[in-house]
Parts: sequence; structure tokens; C-alpha cells
Amino acid sequence: MARGVQSHRHRCRCGPFVGADENRRGKPASRAPRETGWSPDRGDRQFRHRRAASRRGTIGGRRTGHAAHIARSRPQARAGDGPSAREFRRWLRAHLRCLARTGRSGRFADRLSRAPQSAGEERGRSSAGRYRCDSSHPSGRLRADGSADAGGAFRADRQRRHPGRSACSGQAGAGDARSDGTARGGRDRRRADRRHRHRHHSCCSRAPAGRAEALRALCPEGLPLWRWHRLEEDCGEHFRFPDGARTVKICTVGLGYIGLPTAAMLASRGHEVVGLDVNESVVDAVNAGQAHFQEPDLQMLLSASVETGRLRATTNAESAEFFLIAVPTPLVEGNGPDMSFVEAAARTIAPVLEKGNVVILESTSPVGSTERLADIFAEERPDLVFPRYRDEDRDADVALCHCPERILPGQMLRELVSNDRIIGGLTTACANKAARLYQSFVMGTCYVTDSRVAELCKLSENAYRDVNIAFANELSVICDTLGTDIWQVRELANQHPRVNILMPGAGVGGHCIAVDPWFIVSSAPDEARLIRTAREVNDDKPRRVVQSIAALADRFKSPTIACYGITYKPDVDDVRESPALEIVEAVAELDGAQVLVVEPNLDALPASLAGRENVRHATSDEAREAADIVTFLVGHRQFKRLEADSYLSKAVVDTTGMFSTRKAKAVERD
Ligand SMILES: NC(=O)c1ccc[n+]([C@@H]2O[C@H](COP(=O)([O-])OP(=O)(O)OC[C@H]3O[C@@H](n4cnc5c(N)ncnc54)[C@H](O)[C@@H]3O)[C@@H](O)[C@H]2O)c1
Repeated sequence: MARGVQSHRHRCRCGPFVGADENRRGKPASRAPRETGWSPDRGDRQFRHRRAASRRGTIGGRRTGHAAHIARSRPQARAGDGPSAREFRRWLRAHLRCLARTGRSGRFADRLSRAPQSAGEERGRSSAGRYRCDSSHPSGRLRADGSADAGGAFRADRQRRHPGRSACSGQAGAGDARSDGTARGGRDRRRADRRHRHRHHSCCSRAPAGRAEALRALCPEGLPLWRWHRLEEDCGEHFRFPDGARTVKICTVGLGYIGLPTAAMLASRGHEVVGLDVNESVVDAVNAGQAHFQEPDLQMLLSASVETGRLRATTNAESAEFFLIAVPTPLVEGNGPDMSFVEAAARTIAPVLEKGNVVILESTSPVGSTERLADIFAEERPDLVFPRYRDEDRDADVALCHCPERILPGQMLRELVSNDRIIGGLTTACANKAARLYQSFVMGTCYVTDSRVAELCKLSENAYRDVNIAFANELSVICDTLGTDIWQVRELANQHPRVNILMPGAGVGGHCIAVDPWFIVSSAPDEARLIRTAREVNDDKPRRVVQSIAALADRFKSPTIACYGITYKPDVDDVRESPALEIVEAVAELDGAQVLVVEPNLDALPASLAGRENVRHATSDEAREAADIVTFLVGHRQFKRLEADSYLSKAVVDTTGMFSTRKAKAVERD
């Protein structure tokens, strides 16, 4: 780990959410995701873990096959971290059941506090009918509420009906705690417990029997018990702020794609959250428990958080202990950063700041933005002392940090919990204070560093991806010029163990990868030559795609062109900076063109297309029937189910590779 970067772990020493299918964390000491060096020993270890995972059928939560192949051929490849989507969803649902039942914060600790604290207490309580120690069970474990016979009958019946399925249940409310964990036999459970004892922190293994049983009772169905322990124990059960409090009041400024999931997640962990937004319709929607954009599980989490009174939205700033700023940072004309939203947000919260507050900038920002924030606050609040960059001796009243958000639309909630975080303080003290908040809900490692490093880190991540995508896009253009199939070139080149060419596409869109590299370019225009060129290559790709479509359209008098997908990436409803949308807008300008847009993620066309007479929202079937030219611009999952054969009679421009049918054949050696 680089000097000056500290890693904040949870009290658990074995690192966050170690999964059975994880490959690079055999031991706590190997938890070093930032390792870049490759050692034969490490490779061997990774390989063994991956092979074990592949035998179990999953790598990083996905079915193996391709992933296993990658793992074998590329030892440095990182299979997924943290919980799989399915595991996360189970956890989330069980967590929300707790939230609904307790009617308060829903914190796991609340339930635990009502669970028996010792075996003696447990026996004493058994007649009260909630938890009951079952001495007839091979391991003497709690099994069911009510009579032992009823529990036994239930378990036996369940095992008959679902052989090989865990009997752990999330249905742990009063009167129904069944937790024998037996269906796959005591062996699995014992193995899980053993693994848990070895890998888990000591406070859990020393937990009184009653608490351990309560943990077992809450384990969601199908989730390995030791993983459930990890989820709950890592994420907040033992968590305390320095003053001993478990929860704090947080104000999230901006309730958009980042602010709203963060606010809902914090509320679900028991914090009191106030969402501040300038947009009244967003505030009204949130207060009604309605998410104003699509994101898996967000609606569920949001309505639970609002119903339990842990989250509310407002247009007026109010005091809080933590402030999280997640407002837009778009580009201005000439590709410079537009920091006006961040500055406005800072001036809005400045009047309510108090001594001891922590302000965290989550918006992606150019290097130096956190320092600029401190200047704005100092202007607005001369009565408070604000920190200066790396001035560790200054006794500041308010802590200021940058903590970039790196979650992926489509799996935001899962990544909010499982991603590692970079916490860059103006001083170390600032960063440490912010780290406490993230530790209350993040299972990943929190890396503490200074604000400039954190700012550049996020920008570098996206610039790195942009450069790699630019390579693929440039290659696709070269292949078009040379009359070669890019999909075959890519597939075969990637057989090389140290080559991994990304998928080319219609361009690069969204509000991160297409924007953030410019923040680096604007800060260091003479030095960032590769980053600038990559941006230009990617920005030019839509024009190339339009050229290909126009060349085909020339063959028809009045071509009908079906465009599949206009969002900026697959399976989202977001069209910001979408290259596909840019292409459709240009195609609509072609002479005599009738454009049919197939976009299953949108109910209506965006404003830039809605007004045009020659553009219509269509179903896939309609488009296939009517089109002369078909263009696949976004690889939505609905399109992957389409029959490639039914498009054989059409002129096709496929930027997604979904319909690439020519495959190289492997020749068996004698
Ligand atoms: N969306 C992503 O996938 C993603 C991922 C990582 C980082 N980011 C970064 O996070 C930041 C926020 O992005 P987003 O996608 O959530 O933006 P967004 O446009 O979805 O939401 C921003 C919200 O902030 C509100 N707002 C604007 N000015 C405000 C002010 N002065 N006070 C209070 N509220 C204000 C807006 O009304 C809007 O609801 C950006 O810097 C972005 O680059 C976004």
C-alpha cells in the first residue's frame, strides 16, 4: 500500500465480506486489492480459489463458463468482489423485513437486543415462546418457536419438501424463529461455523449462545450462515461513532442517481437522513416514497426508509452532523468542469453548519475542488475555522472530505455496500471522521488519504476506462476501413493470455466516463495528451456509425431505419450523453429517412426526438417488419433474445456485437 494511504477496516480483521467464491482473499492478510505485483505464489493461490469456485458453478456470483475461462487464462483477472446480486437481494429483503418489523430503525442490533443474551436466559424465555433451545437437536441448537415437537415436525416436513435446501429463514418475527439450518445437513452448518470461527473476528465467536442463535434465526433462506454473519457483523451491528452513538443525522444534498440511493441506504442502516434538493418534484416524490428513476431494489428500500420515518426530503437546508454533497458536475462549453452546482450547494448548507460537522463532497470533481469548498465555507462562515490542505496542526471546526462515488447504475445498492471507498480528507483528522460514517454501511475497505489523491483517483479510473474503450473503438473503425470483422479480431486477440481488448460500441456515454477525463485534461492540458486523444476518438465514434448507416441508406429511396436502443448503456433508462441518442438524432436528418426507435427502457421518446415527424417509438416486432436498415446501438438484454435469423434479409449495422455470427473455430490437435 502506498505511503500515506491508510486502510480503515471494520473491527473484523478478516476484511469485508469474504465470500466462498472469492478468489483473492484466502486469508485476512491477503486482503490487498490494490496489489499490482504478480507473484507465482499469489497466482497459484488465486488459481486454486478460482478453480474451486468454478467447480461450485459460480465466480463472483455469475455462472462460470466464461468467467472460469478468464480466471484460468488470466490470473490477474479479478472475479467479482462481495456478495453476488442474488445474495445481496436476499440480504436486502431480510434487512427490510427487520426494518418493517421493528417499526423503528430496523437495525439488526435492535432485534438482537431483544434476543436472549445467554443460554440461561434463553431457557428462561423458552416458555415465553420466542426462542427455544432444542436439546434434541444434534448440536443442541435453537430450532423453532413454540413447541419442540411442532418445530421438529416443521423441520422434518420442510426437509421432505425441499431436500438440500437450508431451513434457515428470514421469517424471524415473534413466534416464528426457525433456525435449525439443517436442510443441507448438520455437516454444512458445522463447516460454515468452523469457517466462521476461523475467519471471523473474535467478538462474534465469543458471542453468547443466545445471540448466536438469534443471528442464525435471522439468516435469510438460502444464504450461507457465515455469510450472513459477515454481512450483519461487518455492517453496523458493532458499529459505534466515537461518542458511542450508533446513528447520526445526515443531510444528503442532491437526490439524484447518487444522492437518493445513498440516502435510502443510510436511512436503512438506522441513520436519520434528510434529503435536500432544489427540485420540488423530486422532493415530493421522495416524501411519497417514490423513486424518480429506475434502479433495482431502490423502490423497496426507499419506501421502507420513508415509511419508518428515517428518510424525508426538503428544499430547505437544516442542521445535521454529516453533509453529503452529490450534485451534478457537468461540462461547460469547451469541456471545462461546471462546478456551479457544487458551489451553490455549499452556499446553501453554509448557514446551518455547526462546530463538529463533517462535509463530504461525493460529486466527481477536478483536483482542488475540496479546497475550493473550504474557501467558500470560509467566505460564508467567518465564525468557523475550516481545514486547509494537509495542514494537520490547524484546529478546524468542520471536517471536509472528498469521497468519490464509483457505483454502477443497475447495481447501485449492491455496490454502495460492497465497494471499497476512497476517503480523501483535507487533513487526516477530516478523513478519519468521514470514514466513521462509511464504516456504518460499507462492507468494503475504506482507504483514507488526502483530498487531492481522492479527486484524481476517481478521475483516473474513468480516464483509464475511456482510454481502453477508445482503443477498441479505434480498432473497430480500422477494421471497417480494412474490411475485417472486428468481433473476430477481438475474440482471437483476446485468446492471448495478456490481452484483453474491450468491446467497441457506438461511442462512450453517461455522465462519468464521457465527462471525467476532461477534468484531467482541463487541469493539465499539455500533459494529458493520451487522455485527450482517447476522448476525441470516443466522441468521434457516433459520427462513424452514422456514416455507415448513411452509406446503406443511399441504396434506398426512402429508407425505414430501425434503431435499437437510445440509452447511454444497456439496461438503464438514462439518455444523458448517450452516443446512441446522438446517432438517432443524426439518422433522423438523413434524406427521406423514417426512423423507428426501439427502446424498452423508456415509455416515451426524449424531447430531442419526440417533436420529429419522421421518428416514432416502436416495438421490436413492428421495427423488424417495417425496416430496410436495422441498427443495433445498445445491447439491452431484451435485444439479446432476438432471433438473429429474422434480420438476415435486412441491412444491419451492429455496434454491439450481439449479431456477430462469424466465429473462429478451434482446431483440435491430434
Ligand atoms: N450517476 C452516476 O452513475 C454517477 C456515478 C458516480 C459518480 N457520479 C457523480 O455524482 C454526482 C451526482 O450525479 P447524479 O447522477 O446523482 O446527478 P443527478 O443529476 O442525477 O442528481 C443531482 C440532483 O442534485 C440536485 N441539485 C442540483 N443542484 C442542487 C443544489 N444546489 N442543492 C441541492 N440539490 C441540487 C438536482 O435537482 C438533482 O436532483 C456527479 O458529480 C456525478 O459525476 C454519478
